[in-house]
Amino acid sequence: MYHAICNVDQLSNGECASLEAQDSAFFVVRYNDQWFAYKNACPHLGLSLDFVPNQFLVPDKSMIQCSSHGALFEIETGECLAGPCTGQSLQKVPFEIQQGQVCILVQNA
Ligand code: FES
Repeated sequence: MYHAICNVDQLSNGECASLEAQDSAFFVVRYNDQWFAYKNACPHLGLSLDFVPNQFLVPDKSMIQCSSHGALFEIETGECLAGPCTGQSLQKVPFEIQQGQVCILVQNA
């Protein structure tokens, strides 16, 4: 089932939105006018990546970062390039733009 996570015009490049649904947490990143959606769970310990809500990126907005341990993930692929889970990846989530909203596909638990 698709869940709206934010309006398309709600986020500028380098901004994120998050959502909890079906006992899981998710986030989307707008980056270079593209959208990327992942589960909000580090492949290392499964912790949420944002300590401050919706703050998923490093200050220059070029990478996703685990706020607990500093692991760095490529925005486009979710691959961890540095940190305790190097070589592992965030779990991508399917999404669609529906009526001006970014909607992620949440599988039933
Ligand atoms: S939980 Fe994996 S780097 Fe923080």
